[in-house]
Amino acid sequence: MTGTVDWRDTPLSRLLGSRLPIMATGLQWLANAEYVAAAVNSGMMGFITAASFVDASELRDEIQRCRELLSGRAFGVNVSMLPKLLPGDRTEATMTLIMDERIGFVETSGRDPSPYVAALQASGCRVVHKVPQLRHALTAEAAGVDAVILVGAECGGHPGESPVGSLVQGALAARALTIPFAIGGGIATGGQVVAALAMGAAGVAIGTRFLVADEIPAHAQYKQRLIEAQAGDTTLILSSVRNSMRVLRNDTTARVQMLEGDGVNDIQQLLPHVRGTLGKAAYESGDWRQGALSAGQGVGLMRCTAPLVEIVAELEYEADAALARLGCGSAAV
Ligand SMILES: Cc1cc2nc3c(=O)[nH]c(=O)nc-3n(C[C@H](O)[C@H](O)[C@H](O)COP(=O)(O)O)c2cc1C
Repeated sequence: MTGTVDWRDTPLSRLLGSRLPIMATGLQWLANAEYVAAAVNSGMMGFITAASFVDASELRDEIQRCRELLSGRAFGVNVSMLPKLLPGDRTEATMTLIMDERIGFVETSGRDPSPYVAALQASGCRVVHKVPQLRHALTAEAAGVDAVILVGAECGGHPGESPVGSLVQGALAARALTIPFAIGGGIATGGQVVAALAMGAAGVAIGTRFLVADEIPAHAQYKQRLIEAQAGDTTLILSSVRNSMRVLRNDTTARVQMLEGDGVNDIQQLLPHVRGTLGKAAYESGDWRQGALSAGQGVGLMRCTAPLVEIVAELEYEADAALARLGCGSAAV
């Protein structure tokens, strides 16, 4: 195989207006204005995570901070919707804010985004919906979203109730979808980025690999634990309540898995162990043994903390090297 390939220029990078077809997707408590600005400055699209903020006014302030850091350049907001519309759900208010603020990109996850797609797009916002199963991606495509992300079993956060590995997700998506799709889950090297593109993806979504970025607002001890962790040091919890979550193995996961093994399948009994504020406290204190701390199998592939721009430069170097191994030179930026 010979020739020159510009892996950076894809339907997704064109949609996002980014130099690279890479999204630094939502990270509750962690994807704040500084992180998202660093993501955009590194050539990716980043998403401020709405679920980190107690109300719309706090989120509005964060959006403003990000706008200032980026001197008005476009960025995104992540909206994790609960699987079902329940009392107290803040999705409506968040979507209204996103439209009022003329945010360029939204990453939705959790449930069918159909009720919001047309209004968001009419406000000038592009909608990228994230799912763990192809059938949900097809529903989102039919609803008119601009792109989808399919996450595989390896991913940090929610891989769905019948997790499918990222390699299989990519092949399935390439056969079935017509809109641009990204693959997420376990992607932590440039070679994996090229693999996703080779399968037909228009880009990738990354969470775990970026957790050791300097801009991630978490304690050094937590980042050190991620660096030391092996690929097998994550585990799945909460399948008993059909809300499976891949997290860093720790005291909390041992306790929750014991309860689930004993037949507990009531979220009210599990919530005291897994509530989000415990995770927030762990990021602040560095005590990674407590809390349900989302992390994917990519933890086994991180060697040190670094500014996000350097992590991204390494991914680019590795992607170019992967293409060179295949006999395809990569077009320089
Ligand atoms: C610490 C952490 C927090 C996350 N929080 C959210 C979130 O609030 N909303 C969301 O849609 N996805 C969330 N995710 C999932 C990521 O956006 C992304 O889909 C996932 O990390 C990709 O797989 P990877 O971790 O293997 O890179 C989170 C992931 C991690 C690691």
